[in-house]
Amino acid sequence: MLYHQEIKDCFATAIGAGGLDQQAYGAVLEQTSAALEKIRAAHDNRSRPLLKLPGDTADLDRLKPVVERFRRDFDHVVILGTGGSSLGGQTVSALADRGFGPLPGAPKLYFMDNIDPDTFDTLFAAIDLARTGFLVISKSGGTAETLSQLMVCVDVLVAAVGNENVARHMLIITEPGDNSLRRLGTDWSLQALDHNPGIGGRFSVLSLVGLLPAMIAGLDAYAIRAGAAQVLDNALASTDPAQCPPAVGAALSMALLWERGTAITVIMPYVDRLASFGAWYQQLWAESLGKDGKGTTPVRAVGTTDQHSQLQLYLDGPHDKMFTLLLLDVAGSGGDIGGGGDNDPSLAYLKDHTLGDLMDVEQRATAATLAANGCPTRIIALDRLDEKVLGGLLMHFMLETMIAAHLLGVDAFDQPAVEQGKVLARDYLAKMGKPA
Ligand code: PA5
Repeated sequence: MLYHQEIKDCFATAIGAGGLDQQAYGAVLEQTSAALEKIRAAHDNRSRPLLKLPGDTADLDRLKPVVERFRRDFDHVVILGTGGSSLGGQTVSALADRGFGPLPGAPKLYFMDNIDPDTFDTLFAAIDLARTGFLVISKSGGTAETLSQLMVCVDVLVAAVGNENVARHMLIITEPGDNSLRRLGTDWSLQALDHNPGIGGRFSVLSLVGLLPAMIAGLDAYAIRAGAAQVLDNALASTDPAQCPPAVGAALSMALLWERGTAITVIMPYVDRLASFGAWYQQLWAESLGKDGKGTTPVRAVGTTDQHSQLQLYLDGPHDKMFTLLLLDVAGSGGDIGGGGDNDPSLAYLKDHTLGDLMDVEQRATAATLAANGCPTRIIALDRLDEKVLGGLLMHFMLETMIAAHLLGVDAFDQPAVEQGKVLARDYLAKMGKPA
């Protein structure tokens, strides 16, 4: 197994009144069988392309010339796009760059998922545009933020390298067919790669949307797919939902919501490389399930950092949360922490230990303290974190979200409510005065 899911501390038998009753959980778990059946059918009749991706590698082979060109020609790669067109790439690429620079031979990636003008000005001042490539990602090809980012970047690029060289620096990823991004791409003769129209933005991390940036960053996209395939294959083969970790996770969340009113779900990795994973999960869970007055609210935290920020509330505030802790086996790793403490008895407890030892005991102590305070706590334990494991985790949480949507009776793949704000923003812009 790529990871081990421990759920004991979600039950009343372990944590008291805040936990689940086994029978109530069992009844919800039973309902996930129908969701698994639907997923199996969609896989077999190929109606959900996301479920075919893990078994595919030909599309990755086809990306190699682009990957080689971007790695060869550029020191910086700017990824324009927002929501599902950015968060998956950010999550995967975090395995390569922990904020201190790219892997040897790879350009530095910049995910620009907002439209703050100051951030763009700062970026342009910091990078050599002659050595910069741009990936412009929008499934619909109509997202105002992404189109505006593109236009701002084209302007500075033209000034830096000339009209005739823009196409060498920019590539677009969008759905086939006519849309604004494609038309802009045609105007500038940009290479266009197809976004599969059957894969929604927040479920697109295993497609070229997440994996092209990952490959440019020097990661093994084939291993990411292999990890996802392992988790998917297990789900497809599970006749008993208790043997399917995503079904178990979805049943826990929904049983806690229905039986205990647990309306908040906190994801807390104890690994800096998974900090973006929390943001990806947050969008996936929120945008897929928050419909018709239903859903639970995802919150992200990072251990140990948020032990000194949010943990007081978690332990002693309202008991309205479920916790998912992602814990990596780090005992024995990292530098020695006891070195300078020989003359100070107050530091004796650190002696002969490593930074990884401290991380290990702190994550276990937080999990135990949450449980001791009656907070339902699921642990996802990792022996290692690499591309394969990350691929498995991504597939786990996409399946868990799809199964939870089935239990809630909502469509995981639409987002009707956000349209209202988009329409209003266009209306405001139309009425806004233009500079003379
Ligand atoms: O998950 C989703 O569908 C959204 O978050 C979209 O990814 C986001 O709105 C960006 O859309 P697009 O890729 O069409 O520009």
